[in-house]
Amino acid sequence: MQIKISSGKVIQAEPGQNIYQALKSNGIYLVASCGGKGVCGKCRVKVLEGPVRVESTGKLMKAEVDEHITLACTTFPENDILIEIPEGSKLVIGDKIAIAKSKDLREFLHSVDAGLQPAIRRVYLELTPPSLDDPRSDLDRIKVGLSEKGLDAMRFSHDFMTRLARSVRELNWRFNLDYTEDLYAVAISSPEQVDRYGIAVDIGTTTVVVYLVNYSDGSIVDLGMTYNSQMRHGDDVITRIVYATEGGGLEELRTAVVNDINDILAPMLEKNSISRDDVDSVVISGNTTMAHLFWGFDPTSIREEPYIPTLNAFPQWQAATAGLNILPQAPVYTVPCVGSYVGGDIVAGVLASRMYLKPEIALFMDIGTNGEIAVGNNEWLMTAACSAGPCFEGSGIRHGMRATEGAIESVKIDPKTFEPTLEVIGNAAPAGICGSGMIDAISELFFSGIIDQRGKFMRDLQTDRIVIGDEGPEYILHRGELKEIVLTEVDIENVMRAKAAIYAGISIMLKEVGLSLDVVERIYIAGGFGNYLDIDKAIMIGMLPDLPKDKFSFIGNTSIAGAYLCLLSDKMRAEAEDIASKMTYIELSVSRGFMDEYMSALFLPHTNMELFPTVRDLYKKS
Ligand code: FES
Repeated sequence: MQIKISSGKVIQAEPGQNIYQALKSNGIYLVASCGGKGVCGKCRVKVLEGPVRVESTGKLMKAEVDEHITLACTTFPENDILIEIPEGSKLVIGDKIAIAKSKDLREFLHSVDAGLQPAIRRVYLELTPPSLDDPRSDLDRIKVGLSEKGLDAMRFSHDFMTRLARSVRELNWRFNLDYTEDLYAVAISSPEQVDRYGIAVDIGTTTVVVYLVNYSDGSIVDLGMTYNSQMRHGDDVITRIVYATEGGGLEELRTAVVNDINDILAPMLEKNSISRDDVDSVVISGNTTMAHLFWGFDPTSIREEPYIPTLNAFPQWQAATAGLNILPQAPVYTVPCVGSYVGGDIVAGVLASRMYLKPEIALFMDIGTNGEIAVGNNEWLMTAACSAGPCFEGSGIRHGMRATEGAIESVKIDPKTFEPTLEVIGNAAPAGICGSGMIDAISELFFSGIIDQRGKFMRDLQTDRIVIGDEGPEYILHRGELKEIVLTEVDIENVMRAKAAIYAGISIMLKEVGLSLDVVERIYIAGGFGNYLDIDKAIMIGMLPDLPKDKFSFIGNTSIAGAYLCLLSDKMRAEAEDIASKMTYIELSVSRGFMDEYMSALFLPHTNMELFPTVRDLYKKS
């Protein structure tokens, strides 16, 4: 059977394949937050011609079904069909995302007093060339030279040996030999070549960031970012784990992210005239599932009780093992993980925040696709993952989207007229609503008296902004020519569940150590989402604790900052390992008391208004 796409492309659908599967096997990807399970409602396509069998219409509205919109993952062609893929359903992941260096990391490195002590060591050798009178092999000759420098125990990989004969002769037996701390020879280079390159990589569930670093001086040569192509198979770690257990899924996910890194790196190397063989050191930072997928380890046990990863501390393997297009024998260091749902990205974040060096009690929060938190100081550290889910990135929200152009990022509602004023990223026509917009909107709906403390719409308000949709009441944020953008009661419930999970996570962790929120002197908010977050509004809905605003610091993408520090400094690696081993990991899903805390937090801002005095006072006035 053929599926013709209105853009002109024609693909073949195998018997039994739904439209989503057929498109995917032909390299056409749709937004598929739930990984094709018929749950998220994101993979909408319009059937223009031909017979189809629709197994379920899921979250589609009646008006959409009447318009022949269907979910690609629950719709099966019964003969040749013609479809149209709406813009909002197209998954754009190959695009490079523009990012700026939020901070001069080199300055940062010096400020943390780490100094430059990269994992790759260097020794200079000047050897007598072989002759008929001195027929020792190349390797024996090098071993003698190394022995004179006290490096007898050096080991040599097969990849290193394949290049040896030519390299030493080209360099007339005068060369630098780079090697790892545990005495593995990595590369040979000219003594004149001073610059040495490595890459720091943050593998996020949503994005992949690569910094190309000259580690001889700590400068960032170039940087790039793209969406994690694994998103083709779902938005969150759970859908990826499920996909990995399906036939061939693990290898597909592994290659997807490795290709992302290679694709970001290749143009950067070309632009800066750096050979791939000159990149000889890598640090990878990612959550536990991302680290497992990168190395090709089955992540199944991460999501099954008792939630055990295959490993938390990763040996240093070589770039060729991972499939990275750099010097094959380059060592790849993976920032250690703590547990199934607290990974190297959080360890790197705590490392970059420096909270583990100070006596003040600090809270570290990374509200990304999952929502991890850490609390502690220089004496103790505790961490947990809140399972907030990716709703702040648009998943599970009717018109949710990531914080890209067209996303409503800020909402104000006039409490008298109930009319909204919107700010949209890129000043574009609104296409959906992102995490910060949702938090804003819910806070405004609450303070305008449109929703109550349970997030339910008030009845009998005199406004045509509230209508009854297929899922119950909804608030119309934007009336466009083509479509309305709404926030439904179900959307609000989803955001409230996520914010309640975060707040309950914080409460439980502090309770475990017998402390209350007022002892927290600093709150670090990491992750891209933090850049857009309005602290006041996040406090209003009870997502963040009601603490003075000056206690909050946004610290950007700390996963990449921590990876950068580990690339340049042995001391930082040792500290990362120390953090990982020192952190007490709490599995909230089995923690006694979590459910109670969670249920109490399922209100705006909380069932106990005394925990939110600022909000209580404002609410009384409103
Ligand atoms: S509903 Fe089709 S991918 Fe989620």
